[in-house]
Amino acid sequence: MPMQQLSTRHLLGIKGLTEADIQLIFETADNFKEVLNRPIKKVPSLRDITIANVFFENSTRTKLSFELAEKRLSADVVNFASGSSSVKKGETLIDTVNNILAMKVDMVVMRHFSPGAPHFLSRHIRANIINAGDGTHEHPTQALLDAFSIREKLGEVAGKKVAIIGDILHSRVALSNIFCLQKLGAEVMVCGPVTLMPKHIAELGVKVEQDVFKALQWCDVANVLRIQLERQQIKYFPSLREYALYFGINKKLLNRLDKEIVIMHPGPINRGVELNSDVADSDNAIILQQVENGVAIRMAVLYLLAGVK
Ligand code: CP
Repeated sequence: MPMQQLSTRHLLGIKGLTEADIQLIFETADNFKEVLNRPIKKVPSLRDITIANVFFENSTRTKLSFELAEKRLSADVVNFASGSSSVKKGETLIDTVNNILAMKVDMVVMRHFSPGAPHFLSRHIRANIINAGDGTHEHPTQALLDAFSIREKLGEVAGKKVAIIGDILHSRVALSNIFCLQKLGAEVMVCGPVTLMPKHIAELGVKVEQDVFKALQWCDVANVLRIQLERQQIKYFPSLREYALYFGINKKLLNRLDKEIVIMHPGPINRGVELNSDVADSDNAIILQQVENGVAIRMAVLYLLAGVK
């Protein structure tokens, strides 16, 4: 039987994936999760494939997770961090990547502060490109690992109600999650201050709510997002204290609900702002399971894309 393939040779966003692509990634990740639980966690699937992790923005989870996934698949890995590179001397994105590719690199995992940067690259270079977060646009592997974690915790994603709560305006995680959850048949609500809500968000087919208690009461899963102060050039709310008062999620608030809900967060957490430690570290939270699943999901994406030339 021929190997099943993705419908795309790059992973630029969830928008470009079909539901069948997402299910194939999940089924492949199930197999790799089993590999990751073995005493020897390495398989030879990407031997002779060279992958460059090209990061123009800071990262802890995504960068480490991709690097680990690549090494578990036996790929050769090179890392590039813009802060210590010749970008500081004025080299352009396309020159930087072409120089990396001249060293015979097969795949590029890229995080960039500009929305659309990986799409631009995919039109100019031959390697497979994986978007590891492009500005405020998309973060596809985060949405895949989030939906995979919901499937693992609740059995399936279809029919589930997911509230995405926080700084929706600046969040690439929100947009990728909306696309991914809807493709899998979940209902999605976004909740946050009106100043941090994109104007036409309802046109994506999501419910919009300003009252965090109502959002929590509605959902099966709350995916809580970070306030992205580094992307905010103006003040969107008076103070972090006031944000925490109206939109912060704590145990007292969850105790008022008439049911248990699952709490997620893509990280990094601003503890005491969008999420209190009494929730982040509780049994309701699957935040570290999300991180664990990130490795299997990224192994699946790398493995499947390597098969599409
Ligand atoms: N969730 C996420 O993208 O985290 P990092 O910015 O640490 O990679």
